[in-house]
Amino acid sequence: MRSKVARTSIEATFVRAEESSRPDRLFDDPFAPLFVAAAEQDRTEAEDEAAATWKKILAFNVVIRTRFFDEYLLAATEAGCRQVVLVGAGLDTRAFRLDWPSGIRLFELDLGDTLGFKNEILEKAGAQPRCARTTLVTDLREDGWPTRLTEAGYDTALPTAWLVEGVLGYLTSEEAARLLGTIGELSAASSRISFEHANLSSGSAFLAEAKAVPALAEIAAMAKGGLGEKTLPWLGDNGWDAVLHDRADLAVSYGRQAMGRSNGGLITAVRR
Ligand SMILES: C[S@@+](CC[C@H](N)C(=O)[O-])C[C@H]1O[C@@H](n2cnc3c(N)ncnc32)[C@H](O)[C@@H]1O
Repeated sequence: MRSKVARTSIEATFVRAEESSRPDRLFDDPFAPLFVAAAEQDRTEAEDEAAATWKKILAFNVVIRTRFFDEYLLAATEAGCRQVVLVGAGLDTRAFRLDWPSGIRLFELDLGDTLGFKNEILEKAGAQPRCARTTLVTDLREDGWPTRLTEAGYDTALPTAWLVEGVLGYLTSEEAARLLGTIGELSAASSRISFEHANLSSGSAFLAEAKAVPALAEIAAMAKGGLGEKTLPWLGDNGWDAVLHDRADLAVSYGRQAMGRSNGGLITAVRR
């Protein structure tokens, strides 16, 4: 994958490959090692203690969020959502590795570079999706994607489970509000949405510290903070009933020790 933005998806995949090899893993992504092998991109090594600590915190966040979103999606489909949309799907292989109820239609939206790489590896591996899977090359900054999504078979009348994993933090507050607003317009009552809430406003100490670590500079420089502290009130004002799940509490419930400073968690919301 050539572009800097497409390469952000490989960082999470390194973590998923590593976690999948643990005997006490919180999920199993058998495709992650295949992407890692094909990416021809070395994981950036931590060059000092601060960088190593940060990398551990970011890896911990990916592990906890992966397990949480696995459970969120399966619960949402069991609760009646017949469609799933992975926004900025990256190298997410949930279509292939989760035990979906029958009749689920799943859409993956991402840039062509990422989806091209992903589909090539999955095809080579003979991977079979466990739901009806459609990948849609999408630039989320453009206006036309909702139309193309409906043309691809998305039904605005059906409750949908949306996942926006690892995406909103790379957007400005205005861009994040616009994306979430569009998703709201496409969401029938009882639809659900979930995403990480890192509580990173652009001036936050957390983000400033990450930016100061050279090994993280490239990724941290792309972080714009999304809706930050405005996220929960914004959801309430825009048709969603939202709950914030504390990351540290989730970790403990999964048998893992919480790591790093508390900086938010995972949001789930239901469309009114
Ligand atoms: C950090 S990755 C997260 C990928 C995946 N959801 C995960 O958690 O593993 C961010 C993803 O957003 C995608 N992305 C970034 N900007 C985008 C845009 N304008 N339109 C569509 N996808 C975009 C990238 O290609 C990348 O796959």
